[in-house]
Amino acid sequence: MKKIGVAILGLGVVGGGTYQTLVDHHDFYLQTQQTDITVEAVLDRDKNRLKELGVPEEKIANSIEEVLADPNVDIVVETIGGIGVAKDFVCAALHEGKTVVTSNKELICKYSHELEKIAKRNHCGLYYEASCVGGVPIIRTLLDGVQANKIQRMMGIVNGTTNYILTKMTYEGADYAQTLKDAQRLGYAEANPTADVDGYDSMYKLSILSSMAFHTKIPYTKIFREGISKIDTRDIAYGRELGYTLKLLAIGKNEGKGIEVRVHPTLIPTSHPLASVNDAFNAVYLTGDAVDDVMLYGRGAGAFPTASAVVSDVIYAATHSEIKYSTFKNTATAESGVKFITDFESAYYIRLFVDDYVGVLAKITGMFAKCGVSIVEIAQRPKDEFGADNERVPLIIITHKTKESGVRNTVSKINASGLATVEAVIRVEA
Ligand code: HSE
Repeated sequence: MKKIGVAILGLGVVGGGTYQTLVDHHDFYLQTQQTDITVEAVLDRDKNRLKELGVPEEKIANSIEEVLADPNVDIVVETIGGIGVAKDFVCAALHEGKTVVTSNKELICKYSHELEKIAKRNHCGLYYEASCVGGVPIIRTLLDGVQANKIQRMMGIVNGTTNYILTKMTYEGADYAQTLKDAQRLGYAEANPTADVDGYDSMYKLSILSSMAFHTKIPYTKIFREGISKIDTRDIAYGRELGYTLKLLAIGKNEGKGIEVRVHPTLIPTSHPLASVNDAFNAVYLTGDAVDDVMLYGRGAGAFPTASAVVSDVIYAATHSEIKYSTFKNTATAESGVKFITDFESAYYIRLFVDDYVGVLAKITGMFAKCGVSIVEIAQRPKDEFGADNERVPLIIITHKTKESGVRNTVSKINASGLATVEAVIRVEA
């Protein structure tokens, strides 16, 4: 019987779930994989946590050196997170020729080029299914399942915290600040929520996923990013009235003219499959030239959903002698010759407050026309609907697909005119 030893570095939520899954499913894997996959060592500063998990004393290591010197350890699982000690430990493990399985999106996003080079040099693997979208097997799908395709488009709800907050704002009408507090109380959002609400978490994931989907390095610095902290519940409500649902989307497109990568709040038709992905659930919606549309849905975070991804990588590494590396040239920066579209095209939802007098509408629409922005729909709402501004009326404008620069121009002109103030600009995708 083949025997594979695993070490786990960092026994927090994901590491703890990984430990429990490997222990509880040991006999199941013995039967299904004909492989004895055993946790040989764990490393964590918090010894109480290890006790709570019931880790036997003899499996508790005191240093990374001790873990890496153990000849029974074949695979090192890194579930520490961040790019400090986690990076040092992963590098050290790869230098020792140990295959690494990690759930660390920031590490993979920023350093996979370096890490993969070390892994190749030492003939070991680097697997990171759990770095993106938790339990949803999107990395394996991109690496294997849809390899036949040229991927044209990818739209994902890849952050559960923000999806939870937006769902509450949509269906309970709560405001952002209150909903964020609730999300923190329930343990969805961190005390410092920046990584989630400002879109960094989604940006790291999009960098990894779009590099794989488009077969070229997409550095995170190329990704346009806007978070949800300025979202006003009234825009979610007005959007719903017009047939749209608001989601924080990670969008990647490669439709012939160049690559477009962006993370921002997006209104999508309420009939779109992504519109019904609620609470902390995640989903990725892909379009390939052969397969057409594919959607993967599931839990993007949490101990056991993420452990599912970690342990599946462990099993893959344990049962395949051939190592699978990136299917793109994994460089530090974008390859020369790859064109990125920064002035992308989108439809837009724009909410303004306008003084309500004869002719004001003509003047406003005239400014859109001057900037070459075509309007699809205009809706005026009653003055006191939300009670925030009792002097002026809310005006909602939906544009045709147009360049981002055109909309920015229009917004500057309107704000400078003194006729109206632009209160919200939200991109709309079909
Ligand atoms: N904080 C992430 C989320 C999970 O809310 O989806 C880990 O990437």
